[in-house]
Amino acid sequence: MRITVVGRGNLGGGLADLWERAGHQVTRLGRDGGDVSDADAVLVAVPGGAIAEAFQRLWGVEGKTMIDATNLYNVTPPRGFASNAEFVKSKTKGPTAKSFNVNFASLLGRLGEASARPGNLWCGDDEAREVVEQLNRDAGYDPVRIGPLESAAAQEGLIGVIFGIAEGIGPCVYRFAPVDQL
Ligand SMILES: NC(=O)c1ccc[n+]([C@@H]2O[C@H](COP(=O)([O-])OP(=O)(O)OC[C@H]3O[C@@H](n4cnc5c(N)ncnc54)[C@H](OP(=O)(O)O)[C@@H]3O)[C@@H](O)[C@H]2O)c1
Repeated sequence: MRITVVGRGNLGGGLADLWERAGHQVTRLGRDGGDVSDADAVLVAVPGGAIAEAFQRLWGVEGKTMIDATNLYNVTPPRGFASNAEFVKSKTKGPTAKSFNVNFASLLGRLGEASARPGNLWCGDDEAREVVEQLNRDAGYDPVRIGPLESAAAQEGLIGVIFGIAEGIGPCVYRFAPVDQL
């Protein structure tokens, strides 16, 4: 598969390494953006609050199969959208999924050490299933679908819970405004 990762940092770069090892051809874009028109699948792994800015510097996105891996931590989705993933879909009008956001990039290199293959959540369009489940498996995960793209806001909200547990701070510090309050 030809994959373009938009955001080549901890998560995008880590997944790119795994996918290259699995035989895929990966192009890595940073904040300067670029052309994604020749990609079979595009991963979005930029800071959650920078998603609109990132799309201003991408071209060739129309109809593309997109996987949005961003998280929203103390930021909200672009105005009028319940989730970053639904914003992505509005820009591309193609098959869209949310995946790879509920995990730690620092563990990507150790997936093979797990005694059982870890599950990884995704939600999104049926048309994106084949690609997102294949790329989950090729990274070392078992894909677990939690619902349609409308579930993306809930999936994006999970990061606050995970951070809360990881930091032992008790109440979740994640802030999310319902779409009708944006
Ligand atoms: N790290 C994790 O464990 C983890 C796990 C799950 C989900 N996520 C999510 O994945 C996303 C990326 O996290 P990360 O840890 O990989 O971040 P990171 O290492 O800081 O990498 C960020 C990437 O986004 C690009 N970028 C930064 N600002 C941008 C902008 N204004 N417009 C377009 N691109 C921009 C950077 O470009 P340059 O290369 O040009 O600097 C870089 O390639 C975040 O939404 C994060 O919440 C992270």
